[in-house]
Amino acid sequence: MERIFDPATQIFLNLIVNLQKGTIQMPNKKLKEEHQIYINKWKNNAETFDAQKCYSWMAQKISTNQKKLILDIGCGDGTGLQALLSENDKLKIIAIDENIDCLKETQRKFSSQGFGTELIERCDLIYDNKYHGYNFKSIDKLPEQQITLIHSDLLSDPYIEPYLNSIGKFDAITIWLIGTHTERRHCMNIFPLNITSDAQYRLSVQNKAYELADEILIAGGILQIVDRGQAPNTELLKDDIINAHKDQASVTTLEVFDLDYMIYNEPINKSSVQMKTSVGGVFSEHNLSELAMTSILARK
Ligand SMILES: C[S@@+](CC[C@H](N)C(=O)[O-])C[C@H]1O[C@@H](n2cnc3c(N)ncnc32)[C@H](O)[C@@H]1O
Repeated sequence: MERIFDPATQIFLNLIVNLQKGTIQMPNKKLKEEHQIYINKWKNNAETFDAQKCYSWMAQKISTNQKKLILDIGCGDGTGLQALLSENDKLKIIAIDENIDCLKETQRKFSSQGFGTELIERCDLIYDNKYHGYNFKSIDKLPEQQITLIHSDLLSDPYIEPYLNSIGKFDAITIWLIGTHTERRHCMNIFPLNITSDAQYRLSVQNKAYELADEILIAGGILQIVDRGQAPNTELLKDDIINAHKDQASVTTLEVFDLDYMIYNEPINKSSVQMKTSVGGVFSEHNLSELAMTSILARK
């Protein structure tokens, strides 16, 4: 009897069959357009957050002066990396991002300042009508530059964890303000995860970061997760976030030990990536009058 799959899995299987037959259709431009739109908007967010010193606050939370090797997941336009390097300009940084235009922008930023940078591009894109898929290749060289930027999707790249493991143990992992562009819903690599909302997407990437941190951090190493949203300005709200992160960390040896937040303002009068709230627990849909960057630290 023929097996019936859910539509997402069926599209993915069709793609594999079409790939084998060599009948994949011509690329659509949507993914490339969305990557470009996203970085252009995010640059406005980053500029606004930087002007309010959000990134230096985040960087100071992990005491970079005692650290040598950092992994940044989802580097955006590199403004966050700039804050890390301002704290300690000797840091060696590996940064990954699913959006190749973010990596190129970050490389431009640091090359122009004289930092040694390398961008590792290693994904073929495959298309099936409006859907796309990444075909990742293994990475065969160790990072030589101070800043190594790697095209990777934390959710679906099978080579990234073994590669990071081969580099040596990391002192810290940062994952700040994770979010993505609208075409991610058409990415076949992540169909099996059945992600149906922005909040679920963010949670999936962060969960993966907790698991990765367990593998690649030194003992005592720090994972820092920063999200933007309603200010956790009561004990109830703080407990809600801490408990959610303890739950995320529960499948690892990491221990959540710090929550702190910084009040900030969203960009106004600028084209930017809008904040997507995930209302739940004790958080209220209507109480976004006071916004905060909330930093969570977990220790291995
Ligand atoms: C909202 S931006 C934040 C950028 C930077 N961390 C900052 O704070 O300015 C989120 C970044 O994460 C990247 N990203 C989202 N999902 C990802 C994934 N699964 N793997 C790697 N990068 C991802 C996006 O492409 C984007 O550049």
